[in-house]
Amino acid sequence: MKTNKSVLVSGGTGFIGSHTAVELINAGYSVVIVDNLSNSEATVIDGIERITSQKIPFENVDTCDLKALRGVFERHDFDSVIHFAAFKAVGESVSEPLKYYQNNLVSFMNILELMKEFGRHNVVFSSSATVYGDADELPVTEQSPRKPATSPYGNTKQMCEDILRDCCAAYPVTHGIALRYFNPIGAHPTAIIGELPRGVPNNLVPFITQTAAGIRKELSIFGNDYDTPDGTCLRDYIDIVDLARAHVAALDRMTDGKMQQKYEIFNVGTGRPVSVLELVKRFERVNGVPVPHRFTARREGDVPSVYADPTLANEVLGWKATRDLDDTLRAAWKWQQSLA
Ligand code: WQD
Repeated sequence: MKTNKSVLVSGGTGFIGSHTAVELINAGYSVVIVDNLSNSEATVIDGIERITSQKIPFENVDTCDLKALRGVFERHDFDSVIHFAAFKAVGESVSEPLKYYQNNLVSFMNILELMKEFGRHNVVFSSSATVYGDADELPVTEQSPRKPATSPYGNTKQMCEDILRDCCAAYPVTHGIALRYFNPIGAHPTAIIGELPRGVPNNLVPFITQTAAGIRKELSIFGNDYDTPDGTCLRDYIDIVDLARAHVAALDRMTDGKMQQKYEIFNVGTGRPVSVLELVKRFERVNGVPVPHRFTARREGDVPSVYADPTLANEVLGWKATRDLDDTLRAAWKWQQSLA
């Protein structure tokens, strides 16, 4: 029995948050979004409303502001939180570590503090495959060891996982699921919402789509001398709608009272390694558009290969990645073209 199908989505105007809000609504949840728009646009709310034909309560609040966030908890009767609100630029986190520790840790601790204070039960935390670092064995399972983080960003993901684990152990009310995402890509098939990077994109697919659109001259492929089939890095690219649906599955498990432990962890990936060069070529082929590219030096901090063993999420959450990579790359291009 679902007792309270209302959920607070922090960072709900961001790339993953916005797609998750749509899938939650499609699954019958009512959604409240809190976001300070530090790396997103208010128009995303309109997009979610257009796709779902629903009015979305939106709170323009910084989750680091405990007092303002308490107001959100006072005004809305949700039992669950999905916490996305965080900074995510790996390189920037190296040059501005305190900005990352301050923002990513405080915002999550505020959420947990208020959940305890208001007796709210369930939280899904947005973690990352980055916690596995340069894994000794592939694919990685949830049992694979976490490696020391190579950036403050990655460290905040590990620290937040630990904070969540400790809170679930200590506070009877708190139940948590950490989802470790692999590489989220794509856009909503309607092209009404998608990824909106500010400035020069750090991530591969937004750089590809901007290069295809002529906004960037050429894509640099960082390294072709890795010990991989074609020398470029291997990653596990997960469609954004599939990823969004993993959150719904996690929340269903929590609200249905099916958790075996108070804190659980799931990989969210396809299990299929794809090389950078393969992804570029595939994008060109399915969209019929050239992506000028050249090989350059390796990027510091990149691991050669990482991909998921998603068996646990498949079996326990009943979730599986279903979207075809070609369709994902078509959606990414359609979204880029819609921005023109
Ligand atoms: C993918 C591959 C690059 C850009 C990071 C974070 C992770 C998660 C997602 C953040 C790599 C190559 C990229 C380019 C390239 N969180 N590349 N040219 O590094 O796997 O993961 O983003 O929000 O925690 O670590 O993703 O998209 O940056 O790179 O050749 O211009 O593409 O070297 O092999 P990454 P990415």
